[in-house]
Amino acid sequence: ERLKAMERPLLSWYKEHARALPWRDRPEPYRVWISEIMLQQTRVEAVKPYFERFMEALPGIKDLASVPEDRLLKLWEGLGYYSRAKNLKKTAELLVEQQVGELPASYEELKKLPGIGSYTAGAIASIAFGIPVPAVDGNVLRVVSRVTGSKEDILKQSVKRRMEEDLKAVMPELEASFYNQGLIEIGAIVCVPNGSPLCGQCPLASICIARIKGLTGEIPVKTPK
Ligand code: ADE
Repeated sequence: ERLKAMERPLLSWYKEHARALPWRDRPEPYRVWISEIMLQQTRVEAVKPYFERFMEALPGIKDLASVPEDRLLKLWEGLGYYSRAKNLKKTAELLVEQQVGELPASYEELKKLPGIGSYTAGAIASIAFGIPVPAVDGNVLRVVSRVTGSKEDILKQSVKRRMEEDLKAVMPELEASFYNQGLIEIGAIVCVPNGSPLCGQCPLASICIARIKGLTGEIPVKTPK
C-alpha cells in the first residue's frame, strides 16, 4: 500500500541528497549511539562540533566509562539536558563492568539501556547494525502522517506505537539504515513543520495524501495536553 510505495523514491532520494555528517561517514555503534543521544534534543548543526570534540576526547566506550564526571560535563556544556551525558556514562560503565565492552546488536537489548527509548534503539540497531527496525521520532511521525493523510494525534503514544508496527512491516530487509535516515532527513530538510513544507523537492510528493488534498497545514495533528 502507500507505505510500501515510499521505499524506492525514499532510498534513491537519500542516496543522492543525504547530508555528509560525521557520524554517517563511519557508522560504528559507539559513534551512532553518541550522535543519536546528542540529536535527541539538539539540532544537527549545533551537534556537529560537540560530536567531533567528544570523539576526540573519548574515542571509545572504555574512555567514556572512566572519564571523570566534571570532564564529561565540560564536554557536554552548552548542549543542555545533562542527564543525557550522565546516562551515557552510566551505560558505558555497565557495559564495561559486565565485560561486554560494546553495545548489544539487538533492538530489545538496546532499549533496556539508560537513556535509550524506542526511537534511539531503532536508530542504533538499524544504522549501526543493519537490523530492520523502524526509528520513529518527531520527524518521521510528521512525514508518515502526511504521506498517509492521518489526522491522528502524533503526541499519543498509541499512534507512535502503531506507526512503528506499520513501518516494521514494510522495512527493507537490507537497507534499514538508509530507509530510516531517509525519513529523518526528509522530515528535517523537506517535510518541515507548519504550513510551508518544500513539496517541490520531496520524493514522496506524488504519493502524499496531505499534499494531494492540500492538508499539509492541518497534518500532523498535535493536540496540546
Ligand atoms: N536526527 C536524529 N537522528 C539523526 C540522524 N541520524 N541524522 C540526522 N538527523 C538526525
